[in-house]
Amino acid sequence: MLKVVLIGSGKVAKHLFDAFRLGNVIEVVQVIGRHSESLRHFDMVSTNLIGEDHVLDADIYIIAVSDGAISEVSRSIKNSERFVVHTSGSIPMNVLSGHNRRGVLYPLQTFSSERAVDFKKIPLCLEAKVPKDLKLLRKLALSISDMVFEIDSDQRKYLHLAAVFANNFTNHMYVLANQICEENGLPFEMLKPLILETAEKIENHNPLIMQTGPALRQDLKVLKMQSDLLGTGTRAALYELISKSIQNQKKL
Ligand SMILES: NC(=O)c1ccc[n+]([C@@H]2O[C@H](COP(=O)([O-])OP(=O)(O)OC[C@H]3O[C@@H](n4cnc5c(N)ncnc54)[C@H](OP(=O)(O)O)[C@@H]3O)[C@@H](O)[C@H]2O)c1
Repeated sequence: MLKVVLIGSGKVAKHLFDAFRLGNVIEVVQVIGRHSESLRHFDMVSTNLIGEDHVLDADIYIIAVSDGAISEVSRSIKNSERFVVHTSGSIPMNVLSGHNRRGVLYPLQTFSSERAVDFKKIPLCLEAKVPKDLKLLRKLALSISDMVFEIDSDQRKYLHLAAVFANNFTNHMYVLANQICEENGLPFEMLKPLILETAEKIENHNPLIMQTGPALRQDLKVLKMQSDLLGTGTRAALYELISKSIQNQKKL
């Protein structure tokens, strides 16, 4: 079995830990975190606090802490010959420059504490400085996911940027739609079938072809009416900018 030490006790660490324990390829030998309360989830294995000089031997050390803390936390894994990876979408592999054997295991999904995830369907983006470590990381990744990709730090920056558009911005649109419903005594529930259908369509179709709405139809009357309903402010500015972006989009 591949021995893993997990550093971090947040959402990604918990979901990875649960996924590793479902299979028989990875043995998590230790979880290292900042606070003992957040280590409770992992108490069936050895747990330690960051900074304690007790890091077990393992094949891979996975750092799943906040982006800004990765570099500092990596320094607590003292032996520079240990293979250390982080799980961030936007941080380059070389943030782990204190380790000759370094890499990245970036799960392209949004994780929350309340929702279980099926790792088999989560794309795992891998990078490693040393080719034999990439093989090791690939073995680990394939044991939990059917979607494993090799993506370098430069590509991963753009992948993360695309994910911000596809996920964070889309969710913000739901927030605004919900507000408009609430302000006008409408149930947001009514929009859910439309939201789901829009997402499902892109499973088999190019999103460019699936675009609909007044901006695409150049329906100036509706565009003016909706813009007037919004008046001024951030929502109005967003409406205008996104409508323009749809109108300027080149057809296939
Ligand atoms: N959440 C996602 O959807 C997602 C998806 C893909 C990749 N990622 C990446 O995965 C990594 C972990 O994200 P997450 O969502 O698991 O974060 P999270 O739930 O907010 O957990 C962050 C973890 O980092 C620890 N931490 C924060 N600052 C620290 C410091 N200065 N020193 C030591 N430990 C520190 C926290 O410790 P305490 O619990 O003690 O505060 C906690 O264990 C990040 O690089 C993130 O970009 C996240």
